[in-house]
Amino acid sequence: MKDYSRINKKWWNNVTSIHARSELYNLPEFKKGKSSLELLETKEVGNVRGKTLLHLMCHFGMDTLSWARMGAIATGVDFSPDAIKLAKKLSKEIQVPSEFICSDIYKLQNVLDKKYDIIFTSYGVLCWLSDIKKWAKIINQYLKIGGIFYIAEVHPFTNILSYDFKIVYKYFFKGPYLDDSPGTYTDWDAKIKGGTYEWSYTISDVINALISEGLKIEYVHEFPFTMYDQFPGFMEKDKKGQYVLKNKKIQIPLLFSLKATK
Ligand SMILES: C[S@@+](CC[C@H](N)C(=O)[O-])C[C@H]1O[C@@H](n2cnc3c(N)ncnc32)[C@H](O)[C@@H]1O
Repeated sequence: MKDYSRINKKWWNNVTSIHARSELYNLPEFKKGKSSLELLETKEVGNVRGKTLLHLMCHFGMDTLSWARMGAIATGVDFSPDAIKLAKKLSKEIQVPSEFICSDIYKLQNVLDKKYDIIFTSYGVLCWLSDIKKWAKIINQYLKIGGIFYIAEVHPFTNILSYDFKIVYKYFFKGPYLDDSPGTYTDWDAKIKGGTYEWSYTISDVINALISEGLKIEYVHEFPFTMYDQFPGFMEKDKKGQYVLKNKKIQIPLLFSLKATK
């Protein structure tokens, strides 16, 4: 069997420096104090001051550090050594303390033995999960009783659509599938070696995995806007700076958020 984790980790290492230079991540503004978090998650997660927060799949830590700036005692986890190295560097540079752990989330129990008030994960995480049930187990394991799990994510419905907005994929296809399309979401022309293996889950897969762990789903919200130009040429920014479809006759779910409690 292919070592999917190794292949994906290599790709994420390769794209980290490209992302760090990108307009999308906008590091210069972040360093000056701008939060990388969207209004959606800051409103829905609520007050984090003094709370312990575990951020799963934190990339190079901008969101983790943004929560820390808001008063959370934050820990970020990611399996890319390059991303974690940059996250630690950023933390020092902006003088916002946070812990960063380099680990595959499926191996986290080897290096982390704590419980958290909040577990957070967002935008572009589900497709990297080889096992959604194990993911829910990990969330349950690291959550304190009374703690909350929150995810804001690209809606799985959009998995059926190609970049040029055609229905070409199966909603119920689980994967893994090889994505060897060129570039990355911050620069489609970037030259990056190798591809990635990804998975797809339905909305009910996500909800049922968390229910199976005994977590209480507080809500699932679906939104007709998203945070990036997911279908170039077919989207425009609205007054709030969110991406919506240009064709107003079409309305599909583009994002969802979910809050669960233990
Ligand atoms: C699209 S980013 C997600 C995050 C965040 N919203 C952002 O844009 O910075 C996905 C992250 O998941 C990490 N990742 C993928 N699979 C992982 C795994 N099995 N364990 C830990 N991290 C993983 C990648 O290294 C990458 O940094």
